[in-house]
Amino acid sequence: MTVPFFDIHSTLGPREKEAILARWRAVLEHGRFLHGPEVGEFEARMAAFLGVEHVVACSNGSDALVLCLQAAGIGPGDEVIVPAFTFFASAGAVARLGAVPVFADVDPGTLNLSAETAAAKVSPRTAAVLAVHLFGCPAPVAGIRRAVEAAAGRPVPVLEDAAQAVGATAAEGPCGGMGLAAGFSCFPTKNLAALGDAGFVSTRDGRLAERVRRLREHGQEGPYRHTEVGRNARMDTLQAAVLLERLPRLLAWNAARQVGAAHYRELLAEAGIEEAVAPLRHHPGHVYHQFVVQVEERDALRSALEEAGIGTAVYYPVPLHLQPCFAPLGGREGDLPVCERAAGRVLALPIHPGVTEAARREVVAALGRILERAGSSA
Ligand SMILES: Cc1ncc(COP(=O)(O)O)c(C=O)c1O
Repeated sequence: MTVPFFDIHSTLGPREKEAILARWRAVLEHGRFLHGPEVGEFEARMAAFLGVEHVVACSNGSDALVLCLQAAGIGPGDEVIVPAFTFFASAGAVARLGAVPVFADVDPGTLNLSAETAAAKVSPRTAAVLAVHLFGCPAPVAGIRRAVEAAAGRPVPVLEDAAQAVGATAAEGPCGGMGLAAGFSCFPTKNLAALGDAGFVSTRDGRLAERVRRLREHGQEGPYRHTEVGRNARMDTLQAAVLLERLPRLLAWNAARQVGAAHYRELLAEAGIEEAVAPLRHHPGHVYHQFVVQVEERDALRSALEEAGIGTAVYYPVPLHLQPCFAPLGGREGDLPVCERAAGRVLALPIHPGVTEAARREVVAALGRILERAGSSA
């Protein structure tokens, strides 16, 4: 049995295709490919789903982050504390505004920013923190804010990169509703996926939402009146139609991922390889965009799994302080040990909603065989 890492068709069966085509036909008829009624309807439904006051649809998750940061007043020379273990866009958004990403280490159990690692990077120029809910696991936003404000001796806004965490929740609130504003991605492999690029901003702050709306249209306040320089970052009506069709199924898809993660943990324990495979810590509000383990000899294990027909992925092989484009910031190996160690050990196992119980058994059985072989030849 082969187990692909991802299968786009597991949530895009014949019935779903028909439903999307019906919505697309309606868009073809009304012809409002930008600013169509589907965009506003998606914004309202998404805000209700998250339990936040405002959602502003936009072109993709990377632009959503730039819009949040810019609307929060981040600009040239400002320092923004960002975890070094995340997708490039988290720091790219900061740099695109002429601000400086200040890379912080992460909690070894979740690989999320922690209160301590964020507070350690505070300086007089700290203007904000961008907390990433990595792999769908809520980062401790309130704790980070308290620790950073105590270190800075003044208020410091915390923004959220919730690109991987739609539907995730913590005791203090939903991902996307804990900080000043959040950016989400609807990239085709995300838990709520468009059929192309799409994303959105969420916030509880009405003035910030209005500013995001202006910034996504070149800072336009009224027809041809530009009060600041923004960008073109709208969501296509065709993508909004897809998201409207899919949003009612998001809870079930997230639940399937949570069931899959719990089953993996059970199987790893049964096989006696939980310690060798070291899954990241569970959080009750985790939506398992990825199910990530940490292993020694990761690349050899990954190749052996591939040979056994099991697809896996590595998120992320290079921490951001060591990326060539950020070399001028002076990051060096050894600066952020938890990020650097994770980059060599992380391995994501198949977790999308179409992964069956039998497939998970196959994955864990293959892991067990490969680890046993490696142990006996050591
Ligand atoms: C953590 C994180 N931030 C930002 C993004 C950017 O989203 P997009 O690919 O929609 O621009 C992604 C998605 O790939 C992501 O995983």
